[in-house]
Amino acid sequence: MMHTDRNDDVVDFWNRVAGDWDIQVGEEGDNNRQLNSDPVLWRFAGIVKGLKVLDAGCGTGYLSRKLHRKGAIVTGIDISYKMIEIAQKKSPSITYHVDSCSTLARLEDNYFDLIIANYVLMDTPDLEATMKAFNRVLRPGGAAVVIFSHPCFPQGRATVSEDRDTISYNWDFPYFDKCKRVDPPWGHFKSDFIWFHRSLSDYWKAFKQAGFTVDDMEEPRITRDRYHQAGTAKLLNNSKTRPYSIAFRLTKSTHT
Ligand SMILES: C[S@@+](CC[C@H](N)C(=O)[O-])C[C@H]1O[C@@H](n2cnc3c(N)ncnc32)[C@H](O)[C@@H]1O
Repeated sequence: MMHTDRNDDVVDFWNRVAGDWDIQVGEEGDNNRQLNSDPVLWRFAGIVKGLKVLDAGCGTGYLSRKLHRKGAIVTGIDISYKMIEIAQKKSPSITYHVDSCSTLARLEDNYFDLIIANYVLMDTPDLEATMKAFNRVLRPGGAAVVIFSHPCFPQGRATVSEDRDTISYNWDFPYFDKCKRVDPPWGHFKSDFIWFHRSLSDYWKAFKQAGFTVDDMEEPRITRDRYHQAGTAKLLNNSKTRPYSIAFRLTKSTHT
């Protein structure tokens, strides 16, 4: 069996929201991706033309399609068959599998040049197994670009005051405890969101224990050249004043 019982609710959740997720990210990624994190993602990924790239937790595939257009040889995997159904329909020429990041059972060892996990690590129930599986399928010297919701600034628990000067985070759980969280629906979603909180040091340890070297790290924020793309003053202020995400570029040692 690919999924443990513990993950069934996660799979059900992502299957349930797959259609709404596709509306959220569309073809270009949502506001946060476009304004803040995608520029960091592309900088960390570098030139992808001709590279074998795994889009791990690809959702409905906006990034897989962008990678494909840039000349990468793309494989997309996702734990949700509904996500994969939508992604495959939009781009029949990209290889997609229903698979879990924590096993990558459909993928061979030492194969990929690059893995991108865009807003996935906080959603995967087993971080340590996921990082080990990423390391296994990367070729020696290959890189993983992982971007995930910043664990210190939980967006689902943020309240921004009307004057936009005060942001409060509703921390009703201990930062240092690894725990499963369920947050109320946001935006146009109608379902609660399941995610997994871990401290930054837990992430760091999981990267190192899986055999990765940390090459680079960034807390994506809007840069001046993109100010005009923020449709509202509120969005601009949010992007200027707090990180939604954190991004790491990791490499697999060449001595394996
Ligand atoms: C926040 S969405 C991001 C999707 C896509 N990367 C994007 O940027 O639009 C998280 C995705 O991770 C997938 N996911 C969660 N846990 C997973 C796991 N263990 N293995 C594979 N996919 C997983 C979900 O089904 C969902 O599609």
